Amino acid sequence: MEGFHVVGGERLQGETRVEGAKNAVLPILAAALLPEGDTVLSDCPDIRDVHAMAGILKKLGCVCGWNNGEMRVCNAGLRHWEMPDELSKQIRSSIFLLGPILGRLRRATVTYPGGCEIGLRPIDLHLKGLKALGVRIREDGGVICCDGRDMRAGDVYFDYPSVGATENVMMAAALLSGITTIHNAAREPEIEDLQRFINRMGGRIEGAGSHVIRVEGVKKLRGVDYTPIPDRIAAGTFLCAGAVTGGSVLVRNARFNDLIPVCDKLREMGCAVTEEGGAIRLTAPERLRAFSLLQTQPHPGFPTDMQAQMLAISCVAEGTSVIVENVFENRLSHVADLTRMGADIRVSGHTAVVRGVNSLSGMRMTARDLRGGAALVLAALCAKGESVVERAELVDRGYAHLESALSRLGANIERISLREA
Ligand code: UD1
Repeated sequence: MEGFHVVGGERLQGETRVEGAKNAVLPILAAALLPEGDTVLSDCPDIRDVHAMAGILKKLGCVCGWNNGEMRVCNAGLRHWEMPDELSKQIRSSIFLLGPILGRLRRATVTYPGGCEIGLRPIDLHLKGLKALGVRIREDGGVICCDGRDMRAGDVYFDYPSVGATENVMMAAALLSGITTIHNAAREPEIEDLQRFINRMGGRIEGAGSHVIRVEGVKKLRGVDYTPIPDRIAAGTFLCAGAVTGGSVLVRNARFNDLIPVCDKLREMGCAVTEEGGAIRLTAPERLRAFSLLQTQPHPGFPTDMQAQMLAISCVAEGTSVIVENVFENRLSHVADLTRMGADIRVSGHTAVVRGVNSLSGMRMTARDLRGGAALVLAALCAKGESVVERAELVDRGYAHLESALSRLGANIERISLREA
């Protein structure tokens, strides 16, 4: 067990660069099952979820090689359609492997997927989408068995624009003859990146970024080299770190257009945020101001993956901020630790009302999920005194060596083994 030891109060200054987006890389790794030939992904972040996904691909018969930010996937040995239990439980993204495995082998089994404990996270939309493509699905004691022998292109309507379910169907349909149309598709930038990747391999998909995606199945796809889009959530987290410490940071390899809702809120808090040719610069005021209302929504609304970080920094902003979490029902678990640090937060249902305090006090805390853990680190950066954020491994799911990036910006943070703490 590891944790982050933080001594708060340092003003962050300098530059950092974010790598490929976790939420783009994971579906792209799943889609690497589709082509005949190798996939090489550049700028692939060194995070636990990526390694867990590579672990699953290996169990399916692929060879995956990781070298200094480059992941190579050779799927020539793909022959297993049963996803390994233990690894699949670690990451929820394993569920969207159903689509590409079915696309290639016409059958697949998986146990109910895992991931962060941030809500019920049902998979009904994934299954609905696959059924619309003719997949017969049987659930047996927590195991989902998919028979794709009668798969065909079809029309899919999602009652809610689920990111993973949209990706699942795009991958399942890429090699199915005929035209599949996905209605009420998710519009996240990572969906557009998946379309770009599949089309680079020779696929024919259009409409990603809008609510209707059209997939024209092709006979085969070829392996390609690809660089995924940068991680907007990692970039947003570094901007928050600059904001909460009264600092000035330049985040390189950040796409401003993907971060408009986050930059808008940071400006409302009094930060100067500017786009600088492929980078975003933030300069924080002496004291942050509260924002009026932050509501998480599917893209292009405010991303749920930035809610915890914004809540943490609003704890020390002047005035009252209101946060409504609409996407996941259990994503306010960081509130208890923030309150112990001295924050004034009232939660009612999915709504948190934060009355800014002058300062927080360093504390021993425990990350409960990936973004909640990052939020606790942000709070520790501005708190008085020392903090320890336990369960660094949850944060490592989505941030590559967070402590190194923050220390380079001037933070007093190190990774510790908790036996020593
Ligand atoms: C993806 C992201 C995650 C992000 C989320 C929302 C990846 C690897 N993860 O997760 O970081 O927080 O999008 O932007 O890309 N739902 C159902 N039934 C389903 C599927 C989802 O009810 O079959 C619900 C979920 O419980 C949740 C909401 O839909 O309340 C959003 O989930 P979804 O968009 O599917 O998120 P993920 O793809 O799991």
